Parts: sequence; structure tokens; C-alpha cells
Amino acid sequence: MSSQNNNLEDKDRKLFLNNYLEVRGGNSLNGHIQISGAKNSVLVLMAAAILSKEKINLFNVPQILDVEKMFNLLVSMGINITASSGKLEIITNKINQPIQNEAFKLCQELRASFFCIGPILARYGVAKIPLPGGCSIGARPIEEHIQSLKRLGVNFKFKNNYLIAEAINNEKRLIGSTIKFQSKSVGATETLMMVASLAKGTTTINNAAKEPEITDLAKMLNLMGANVSGAGSEQIVIEGVEFLRGCDFHVMPDRIEAGTFLIAAAITRSSLSLSPVFPEHLNAVIKKLEECGCRFEYSFPKLKIIPNQILNSVNITTSPFPGFPTDLQAPFMALMTTLNGISTIEETVFENRMQHVKELNRMGSKIILKDNFATITGVKNLKGTAVSGSDLRATAAIALAALYANGESAIYGLNHLKRGYENFASKLNSIGADISNVS
Ligand code: EPZ
Repeated sequence: MSSQNNNLEDKDRKLFLNNYLEVRGGNSLNGHIQISGAKNSVLVLMAAAILSKEKINLFNVPQILDVEKMFNLLVSMGINITASSGKLEIITNKINQPIQNEAFKLCQELRASFFCIGPILARYGVAKIPLPGGCSIGARPIEEHIQSLKRLGVNFKFKNNYLIAEAINNEKRLIGSTIKFQSKSVGATETLMMVASLAKGTTTINNAAKEPEITDLAKMLNLMGANVSGAGSEQIVIEGVEFLRGCDFHVMPDRIEAGTFLIAAAITRSSLSLSPVFPEHLNAVIKKLEECGCRFEYSFPKLKIIPNQILNSVNITTSPFPGFPTDLQAPFMALMTTLNGISTIEETVFENRMQHVKELNRMGSKIILKDNFATITGVKNLKGTAVSGSDLRATAAIALAALYANGESAIYGLNHLKRGYENFASKLNSIGADISNVS
């Protein structure tokens, strides 16, 4: 059991030990998997709904733990929100500030809660929310958010674990400005797009992050009557408007879930089709899978992967979009343990995102880790055993390795998996995997 989980409180430890996936490895997979709505889009879209007092309908919403937590957070903030099979209906008439009690606890558990600070500030002129914590993959600082919001006329105070942000002009309205981020930040780019939509005047964001989830947010903001251009490029320009109306919006497909299942196909040397998939969301991953010996066929919206039986080593360095996504670093490393030859992977986005290495080595992988640089010597066999995931993508990685391993594995850290993958086990079982949820 990794040290990460040794310091769990007793009740959490019981939950951790009594909830695991039992995976019997060695099956080949065959068939088609339906890709769910994107976790890293829907969470920010739920926060963006606060910008309007009219009804926002979100469709293609994945049923995952992080959405459930964000749902409960919005409810505890006094927002009217209802859910029915993949759809959310959100009406923000009022906000209970400061966020406290149950909402305070949820903010500490869910980093994405910080997406709410911008819309609350833009709508009400003041936001008082708990400082988001770090997580197991890194400290997750927010100085890019703070520095850029200050340029739009926001004053910050920090008091008993609350961050209090206030528009300093007497209209309580933010003023557009030109910002240049020091480093690429998805969350900071999204926060600035949301606040700038209701600011007075024009905001120009330079060195903006270019992830597809940012383009998805821009699409919804513009449907609400905002004026956002350049999303997906280094420079985004937002002309502030007086108010934003309600809209219906269909969340984009989850490119990280799709990438995870492409890797599941490669590691089991199985052909698999996925839809809906936009290949342009996964170019860097598709290129690396082609380099190691997989072929692809695409006919919108279905992507098919056909791996060779012999796959060869590759080298990867993670980087912001359109580079190789950090969220698929751990799953791809699981594949690398089975490739012919020596592969390397360097993590440059988060400072502590290699915790899956020790668990993969316990399954018989040969991975040498120096700082955030891993050297992986491919092995013929992995052995099933009890392993535990320390975060969402690390748990997905060891589950993929278990699909390849001989014998049975027990994958602990199920709650991590449920945060970001809808029906992970049942989707894999539907194409021939042998996984049971034990609880
Ligand atoms: C989003 O996190 C995603 N989460 C992450 O997905 C994803 O890994 C990350 O973007 C990078 O693509 C959601 O969208 C909910 P960042 P975010 O701000 O916005 C540093 C998953 O597994 N940084 O782009 O928090 C930061 O510490 C999750 O689905 C600063 O230094 O990521 C990190 O090292 C994990 N200062 C790097 O930048 C800041 O002010 C990227 O962070 C902000 C960020």
C-alpha cells in the first residue's frame, strides 16, 4: 500500500480498503466505447452558469464524483440546480456568501470550486471563498489568477482561510485590461475569460492556455451573449457586455477519457472504436501511438485504433496543449512498460505526478525515476497484485497495466477513478475486459 494512503483517517482507510476493482488480466478487447462529456469542461461551465440570472441547460454531463461535488457546492451556495440523466438545469438568482459549512468543506475537497470566484466576483462585485488546497500531484498555486484579476481592478484580502476578492471601483464592476500570463494556466485563462465577459471595456489575454476546454467555454459564453474571440490561440480578446443570458449547451467529449481507452486498446493489443472523438483534441497522443506501431481509421465521429502485436518504445515530454497532455502521462507510462525497448517520459507540467511509478514497478515493470524523468525498459510480463492509485490518472494507469498483467489485480483508490471516469469498469467489461467492482 503506497505511503500516500497510509495517512488516511481510519474511516477513509476502511472506505479505501473496502472499495476496489478486481481485474483479471490477459483478455483482448473488441468493440466500441461511447465517450462521455468532458470533466475538465463541464466543471468550469457549471461555474460559468453563475454569470447569468437566466436558466442554463447543460447536456452530455458525465455522472462522475467531481460533478456531484460541484453540484452540491452550487446547491449549498443557494443556486437552483437540478439534474436528470446527463442534463443539468442551473438558475442563479442569488448566492449565499460567505461560502461556509458544507460548502466550505466541498471547496477544500474540490479544486475546481475555485472556478466560482470569477463569476461571483463579476456578478456581485465581491467574492469570499475558501482558498483551494493543493492535491497529491502538486501545490496548485493561484498567483496567475490573483495577479491578472488585480489588473482588472480587484483587491484581495486573506482572512481565516478565506480569500476575499472585491472590485475596487464604486460601481463594483471590473475594468477590462491587457494581461500577459507568466506561465500557461488553463484555470487562470478560464477565470479571466469569465470575469472579462462582464467587465467594462476590452480585456486582452496574452500567453493564454489553448486547451480545447477553453474553446468549449468560449462557445458557451458567446451563446450567453458574451463577445470572446481567439479562444484556442495564444491571444484571447473579450469585449465586456452588460449582462449574459441563459442558453442550452452540449458539453464537448472527454479527450482524456478517449485517450485513456486508446491506451487500453494499445496495451491489450486490441482493435477498438470510440465515439464521439475529435482527433484534433488528441493529435499529440495519436502521433505517439502511431510511432509505437498503432494504425488509426477515422470517420466522424468514430475513431478506430488498430495496434500491431509488436509495439516499439517511444519518448514523450508532457507540455500544455497542443503538446502531449500531462493527464495522459501516467496511462501512457503503463503502456510503455509493455513496449519493446527503452522508452522515456518527462513530466514538465506538475511537480509530483509520478506516484504511479512505484505501483507499476510492484507489478514487475522496470522503471527508473530521476526527479520527473522516467526511463522505462519494456518487459514481457507484468504480474497481477494489490496496487493503489494516489490520484485520478495514476489509478487509471495501474488499472490499464492490470488489463495486461497475468493473473488478478486489486486496484485500490476507486474513489479517485470515480472522480473523473464515468462507468470506467462497465465500459471496459462491455468490450471484453474482466473487471469487478468490489465494495
Ligand atoms: C486543469 O487544471 C485541469 N483541471 C487538470 O486536469 C490539467 O492537468 C491541467 O489543467 C493542465 O492541463 C481542470 O480543468 C478541472 P493549470 P489547472 O492552471 O487549471 C501551475 C485531471 O487529471 N500554475 O493549467 O489547475 C500549476 O501548478 C486534472 O483531469 C502555477 O504555477 O491547471 C501546474 O503546475 C489534473 N500558477 C501548471 O501551472 C498558477 O497560478 C498547470 O496548471 C496556476 C497554475
